[in-house]
Amino acid sequence: MIALGCDHGGYELKQEVIAYLKQKGIPFEDCGCFSTEAVDYPEYARIVGRKVVSGECEKGILICGTGIGISIAANKIKGIRAALCSDCFSAEATRQHNDANVLCIGGRVVGPGLAIKILDTFLNTPFSGDERHVRRIKLIEE
Ligand code: RB5
Repeated sequence: MIALGCDHGGYELKQEVIAYLKQKGIPFEDCGCFSTEAVDYPEYARIVGRKVVSGECEKGILICGTGIGISIAANKIKGIRAALCSDCFSAEATRQHNDANVLCIGGRVVGPGLAIKILDTFLNTPFSGDERHVRRIKLIEE
């Protein structure tokens, strides 16, 4: 199960993400927001982050205008490793190296075509499990 969240700046891209997840048959929970009316992105970062940390959802996707505010907020939650990605290389590397559990995207930064490729890369790349990466992730948690 994927937890999805956005603010008004990410709402339109989230609709594209929903269409992609439906087409792929990937189960998701839409945690809001549900329109382009202005909202506060930390609230959606918190809802999605808590679902991932609790194990209710395996991964999260968060979208705001830049992806920056929502990633800062998500990374305040213990156990969340949120990665702001605007390219596929970063999306792949953050799964392999950081075992990132939340993908953040800027809805006003990347177009829908690239965003879906970034998402596809993120969801389909496993953590490498290499000792050095496990060690570094543990150091983040300390
Ligand atoms: C909202 O206008 C905007 O500030 C927000 O979506 C995000 O870009 C914050 O980092």
